[in-house]
Amino acid sequence: MCGIVAFTGTIDAVDVLLGGLRRLEYRGYDSAGVALVPRANELICVRRKGKVAQLAAALGRETAAPGREAPVAPTSSSAPAPAGTTGIGHTRWATHGVPSEANAHPHRDCSGKLAVVHNGIIENHTALRAELVAAGHTFASQTDTEVAAHLIEHYYQGNLAEAVRQALQRLSGSFALAAVHAAHPDRIVVTRNDAPLVLGSCAYGALAASDTPALLEHTRDVIYLGDRDLAVLHADGRVECYDPAGSHYVPTQVRVEWSLEQAERGGYPDFMLKEIHEQPRVLRDTISGRFAVENPGLVFEELPFSDRDFANLDRIQVIACGTSYHAGLIGRNLIEAWARLPVDVEVASEFRYRDPIVTPRTLVIAISQSGETADTLEAVKLARRAGAFVVGLTNVVGSRITLEANAVIYIKANLEVAVAATKSFLGQVAMLTLLALHLGYHRGFLSTAQVSEIYADIQKLPAQIEEILADTTAIERCAEACKDAQTVLFIGRGVGATTCYEGALKLKEISYLHAEAFSAGEIKHGPIALIDPDGLDDPTKATPVVVVAAQSATYDKTLANIEEVIARGARVVALATAGDKRIAELTERVISIPPVRECLSPILASVPLQLFARAIACARGCDVDQPRNLAKSVTVE
Ligand code: M6R
Repeated sequence: MCGIVAFTGTIDAVDVLLGGLRRLEYRGYDSAGVALVPRANELICVRRKGKVAQLAAALGRETAAPGREAPVAPTSSSAPAPAGTTGIGHTRWATHGVPSEANAHPHRDCSGKLAVVHNGIIENHTALRAELVAAGHTFASQTDTEVAAHLIEHYYQGNLAEAVRQALQRLSGSFALAAVHAAHPDRIVVTRNDAPLVLGSCAYGALAASDTPALLEHTRDVIYLGDRDLAVLHADGRVECYDPAGSHYVPTQVRVEWSLEQAERGGYPDFMLKEIHEQPRVLRDTISGRFAVENPGLVFEELPFSDRDFANLDRIQVIACGTSYHAGLIGRNLIEAWARLPVDVEVASEFRYRDPIVTPRTLVIAISQSGETADTLEAVKLARRAGAFVVGLTNVVGSRITLEANAVIYIKANLEVAVAATKSFLGQVAMLTLLALHLGYHRGFLSTAQVSEIYADIQKLPAQIEEILADTTAIERCAEACKDAQTVLFIGRGVGATTCYEGALKLKEISYLHAEAFSAGEIKHGPIALIDPDGLDDPTKATPVVVVAAQSATYDKTLANIEEVIARGARVVALATAGDKRIAELTERVISIPPVRECLSPILASVPLQLFARAIACARGCDVDQPRNLAKSVTVE
């Protein structure tokens, strides 16, 4: 997803912009650029297809890795470094127009004096472009963003903030914008609607960015701008904010406690591995403080519900996308089992375009690690209009979902940099597990003793994950046996099937190897045809099938499924409970997890599947932190 950085101040803007862009790389992008005002009435624009490193080289700079000091002087003589203390920078994730230098941001107006960077989608760009072309404007790109540059130019009469304000009234869609003009070398104007933008100021200037990590090196006190508000960043560090009516207001600053080190790899080869290893900590933090000895129910102060309110609910609707959707599927099994409440789980992109049945007696749980997923946010708005109470489950403080939902439950994953969700997924599943216990207890279906017993088992999970992480030899061996396959199938039953859905998504998104998950009971109804019979004679042609076969009520049936696929020539990788001799007799490729209650098994079983996907992706030479075509925050539909 596109990333914006803007800086005006008293030090070199290039280093600040490049440093910020590096910190936004996790969002995924295909080109990068900056516009700088080196002196009054001059604007320089440098853009490159590819990575920030290529942009830095074009600027005669080297970018430092996040968390380290950026160099203050040019280190390459390939191009002169433009001077200047005011500029805007951008990483683009292509939506309108192919990834190319011409479509890379910033985009300029006809005069070449005004430049704009943008995240999101301007929905009425076609009509606006036609209008501006008719008025004599010349366009140089296929992007919706360029419309904003020309529209601001259209209204510009010497006051940049006023021109942006007028242009803003003509724009529909979700967007965050930063505009700079050669005539105003000491200021930047920013605005946003339904897209993230965080502002801040420091001793040497004022900044804005799409996400907090890009500001942390400079300030810990940030401002979240409201929808259609406008702000002027001044080189002396002032941030002037205006509401949509144009009234000036003093913004509230929020202190961010995340350390810069949290954005670094911490000695691991990639963020994904670091984040997988953080999962025991995430679980401990999630569990901590949720159980009160004197009150055997769980502590969910975020939910303003009495027992009567809980009893009055007639169903739960979970809405989410991708990995968060899979967390929702796991949550459904637990809530239905413990709270005896029907739960529907739907991908937000479908939910919002149906005419779903949502009433004031529906509790909606919207899950989004980023809190910025456009489809989920729109589904939340729809549910609220229908009178439902919406609980947002997210990882990001101050994200959009926290503003749209009636109540917010934060998971405790902390900053997740790798595009593939790992620790945030585990945090979501753990929180949904606790929530299911809470609902079960308050609706009278779980006794105090049952809650205590299950909670005691939940407390064992962090140490059990540490056990899995301590020896990954079997996982790596299994990955080696599957890395060259054309396709990998995942099968399981019950919560095992939901674990498989996430395992398959993780594998395909980071290794680009086709993977598909099925309920094991369904394979004979179609998917078993995917198993190549040549595998019976030639092991190199055997189709890998990952079977989640931990101890469960359907264990025997899963065993039968293993035999079934082996008989067709499959190469089975089994995820089984440690010490399982029956599985060991069927396949030599076994990944063990510690014994665990069936309802909690997805929390343990997901970890080896994350490592399995990562090992295959690394063996195939893929960039596991920034997989192709994907973004960390999907802020457009
Ligand atoms: O931020 P969200 O949880 O709302 O994101 C939803 C999906 O885009 C996300 O889970 C995606 O599937 C990830 N790439 C999974 O690793």
